[in-house]
Amino acid sequence: MSASKPGVAGAAGGGAPGRGSDLRKLVAGRRPGVKWIRRHVLDTDDWSREEIETVLDQTRAMVEILSRPIRRAPPLRGRTVILFFAEVSTRTRVSFELAAKALSADVVNITATGSSVEKGESLLDTVRTLQALGGDVVVIRHGSSGAPYFVAERTESAVINAGDGWHAHPTQGLLDAYTLREAVGELGGKRVVIVGDILHSRVARSDINTLVPLGARVTLSGPPTLIPVAWRCGEVPAGVTYEPELDRALDGADAVIALRLQRERQESGLLPSVREYSRVWGLSEERVARMRPGAPVMHPGPMNEGIEIDAAVAHGSRSLIEKQVANGVAVRMALLYLLAAGVGGPDGAGLPNPIEKRG
Ligand code: CP
Repeated sequence: MSASKPGVAGAAGGGAPGRGSDLRKLVAGRRPGVKWIRRHVLDTDDWSREEIETVLDQTRAMVEILSRPIRRAPPLRGRTVILFFAEVSTRTRVSFELAAKALSADVVNITATGSSVEKGESLLDTVRTLQALGGDVVVIRHGSSGAPYFVAERTESAVINAGDGWHAHPTQGLLDAYTLREAVGELGGKRVVIVGDILHSRVARSDINTLVPLGARVTLSGPPTLIPVAWRCGEVPAGVTYEPELDRALDGADAVIALRLQRERQESGLLPSVREYSRVWGLSEERVARMRPGAPVMHPGPMNEGIEIDAAVAHGSRSLIEKQVANGVAVRMALLYLLAAGVGGPDGAGLPNPIEKRG
């Protein structure tokens, strides 16, 4: 399987050249309870429920590591994780760095500003440089949809998409699923509202791709100009509906995820005004009270408080927003562990499960 097109998540075992693909299969097959055959995490749009569950189970194990007095385990010792962030980020970049360090990996940071990208270096040349640096895993955020696929095709490293253009943000989808399930239990039959700029949101797409396979029903709400035309006209993916009235969408819902309003949408004529947006689509205490009692409120961050979400809601008793950030470290540890374990280690025979090893 090629990594060439968005929509097809990374090579599963064979295909792309790389170190120890046979070893990967062996390792995955030998570790009880863990079946992992993907080489990259580029999107979750073709992941099975079992694959998502594997990451969430592994995340639980990583949460346990993070609860120890010394938040460190050895499984990625001797491995290098390269964080290549060509677009701004706080949560994703820092949580990947903490995750890699918690698993004892060496971490190299490359950002667009302060690197040779600023001097006009092409993505291809940056990829060649990353290859020469010998990273086991490359985590990439890029403003262009598909950039992680481009990198995955041209490097032997495992590649994780940390957000590409409007396309996908798979690790955010996984951490949202983990956080929500911890809060409300199994997601089968639960109804989750996603409100805001769905059209330009890689988070919305990745949330849908993760929550729906786990059995959740997703209701999208937001200004019609910020919903993909096909979806607005009824051609929504399975498990998804569109409800233009936010109050109706929230009635009896089990959770809501508010998306960041990208203010440039007003300049591009897609919104009448930010104030109007806030009035019609903002999450107020009154609005969230329409959901089931205690139903949680989530936001991937960064937030525009007072626009898409009131401060009282963002920091209120229903808010899981800080938990999302904290769980981001554990989810990214789980993915780094699963990928790096699959590319063969210094011991040449894969890596022990950190939890099994401890026991
Ligand atoms: N949620 C998210 O991707 O946040 P950052 O842009 O801060 O990484």
